[in-house]
Amino acid sequence: MVDAIKVENVSKRYGDLQALNGVSFNIKQGEFFGLLGPNGAGKSTLISALAGLLKTDSGCLSVMGHDVVNEYRSARRSLGVVPQEIIMDPFFTVRETLEFQSGYYGVKNNASWIDELLEHLGLADKADKNMRQLSGGMKRRVLIAQALVHKPQVLVLDEPTAGVDVELRQSMWRFVRRLHREGHTIVLTTHYLEEAEELCDRIAIIDKGEVIALESKQDLLARGLGSKLLIRAKHDINDVPAPYKAALVRHEGVEIELTLNRDADSVMSILDGLRAAGIEIEYVSVLNDSLEDVFVRMTGSEPPVQLGSGEAGGES
Ligand SMILES: Nc1ncnc2c1ncn2[C@@H]1O[C@H](COP(=O)(O)OP(=O)(O)OP(=O)(O)O)[C@@H](O)[C@H]1O
Ligand SMILES: [Mg+2]
Repeated sequence: MVDAIKVENVSKRYGDLQALNGVSFNIKQGEFFGLLGPNGAGKSTLISALAGLLKTDSGCLSVMGHDVVNEYRSARRSLGVVPQEIIMDPFFTVRETLEFQSGYYGVKNNASWIDELLEHLGLADKADKNMRQLSGGMKRRVLIAQALVHKPQVLVLDEPTAGVDVELRQSMWRFVRRLHREGHTIVLTTHYLEEAEELCDRIAIIDKGEVIALESKQDLLARGLGSKLLIRAKHDINDVPAPYKAALVRHEGVEIELTLNRDADSVMSILDGLRAAGIEIEYVSVLNDSLEDVFVRMTGSEPPVQLGSGEAGGES
């Protein structure tokens, strides 16, 4: 089976800035793939290149086996992109916007699919409103409908949930999960790592234009397995013994948390050391990192945005 997306050694430079530097990876049909990375990593640049909107300096990109340059039309037809920036004509209504988009792809008699999209994206009552009358979140929904109007096999979502409320985020994810269940390949860029952790099967982390990790979510999370040690004493720990100060993450009353360098430390030797320093241990636990911890450690960037309650949205 042909890969949904192939990225081969793609580079792009803006003046002095190497936005993409030899990026390569493949995405199989039916995958739910996460493309993560800090601001300015090159994610949107890569997505623009995939959509044929940007000329790369070198390398090849293809969608469903169609080269995005030499077979532009077929590649474009296989791909729906929900862009990060909201750009649309304010004078058309929602329905007109979707009809024009259908026309652009040469899809005729598309009214029933457009109705279905409007329905699933909670836009049915907005169909005849002008785009400029919509709120930011509503416009995002229209962008998603636009990306799906020609029923592309591959759907790329570039930060689709930025600035979107909890309810819309959940209904959006329900819809995207349904598309995924129906066999669509989904590529998601997000700064909400809980979303990626919940939705994606495989994840690429891009940093400064280079792929720094490409693995299954499980493997990526496993990098954070057993990375910290939580120790609770039978009494307040007044002073953390000197050898463990450098590894100290948290110290509150009876509890301390230490980073665990699995190559150098053995849990037993740490416990012995603490006991020798007069600490009576009540409880010990090995803690695992979240995808967010792994991400921050790998990219050295600021922790990404925290979601509020009730996120990438339960089963559907
Ligand atoms: N048209 C352009 N001209 C010059 N530099 C650009 C242009 N587009 C993007 N860049 C630069 O290329 C780098 C990659 O940008 P890109 O938008 O791909 O990042 P990103 O990973 O999508 O970031 P974010 O998470 O903020 O959306 C950035 O340093 C950006 O400033
Ligand atoms: Mg971007």
